[in-house]
Amino acid sequence: MGQEIKGKIAYITGAGRGIGKATALEFAREGVHVGLIARTESRLQEVAEEARSFGVKASVATADVANWEEVEQAVATLEKELGAADILINNAGIGVYGDFLDIDPEEFRRVMDVNVFGTYHMTRAVLPQLIEKNRGDIINISSSSGLKATAGSAAYSASKFAVQGMTEGLMQEVRRHNIRVNTLNPSLVATELAFGEKLDEADKEKYMQPEDLAEYMVSQLKLHQRIFIKQSLQWATNPF
Ligand SMILES: NC(=O)c1ccc[n+]([C@@H]2O[C@H](COP(=O)([O-])OP(=O)(O)OC[C@H]3O[C@@H](n4cnc5c(N)ncnc54)[C@H](OP(=O)(O)O)[C@@H]3O)[C@@H](O)[C@H]2O)c1
Repeated sequence: MGQEIKGKIAYITGAGRGIGKATALEFAREGVHVGLIARTESRLQEVAEEARSFGVKASVATADVANWEEVEQAVATLEKELGAADILINNAGIGVYGDFLDIDPEEFRRVMDVNVFGTYHMTRAVLPQLIEKNRGDIINISSSSGLKATAGSAAYSASKFAVQGMTEGLMQEVRRHNIRVNTLNPSLVATELAFGEKLDEADKEKYMQPEDLAEYMVSQLKLHQRIFIKQSLQWATNPF
């Protein structure tokens, strides 16, 4: 009774590794054509090649999402190669943690530029395509740190709390166009962002995997267009 996502077109940021890569491949497995954005082209090309093995179209465009001109150009490339988007996954993000006084002002600014302005730039560039279709989905990957801050998370939490506000405001504005805008708020996921290189394979298994988030997004996108999950928080069952 839900909806088919096969044949839809999704643009995914931060698609070179981690949650973005897993999402691109899971979408491709479901028959969704994927447009991949990040800064490192070689990784995007590898993901695109793997995605195409599922029989979908996959295109690559490099951009630093913090840079409006690069985003505009990347979105134009994807639109030309794949067509207008049905789905936008704002996933590109960086983590900055540490005691408040230890965080360099430039680092604080950068986390806001990538996590907040990156989401804003991508949405600004893609939203007209969804409005034109009078339907669509925007999923913003915030974080459990975007719902509850902890010691050491002030910079990262500031950026992810901002994403919640932007999401809520936009959602209220565009739901009349049948556009569903929401956040996913995962706790720890076994990726480079959360753990760097320091986690061994056995420990990794305790945490949520990027694929778990990707499957979650697919199930959410398959809900009937008249319903959506406004905000969700993903936790590992037993990370102890
Ligand atoms: N892992 C976790 O525990 C966790 C928990 C909650 C929320 N999240 C959120 O989930 C999202 C994905 O995280 P992840 O763990 O998958 O991270 P990751 O493994 O570090 O991957 C991040 C991806 O984003 C891209 N990226 C980084 N900065 C970018 C920029 N300025 N412009 C364009 N692309 C950029 C990276 O590629 P390039 O470096 O090539 O650009 C990479 O493809 C982030 O928003 C993060 O805050 C993660």
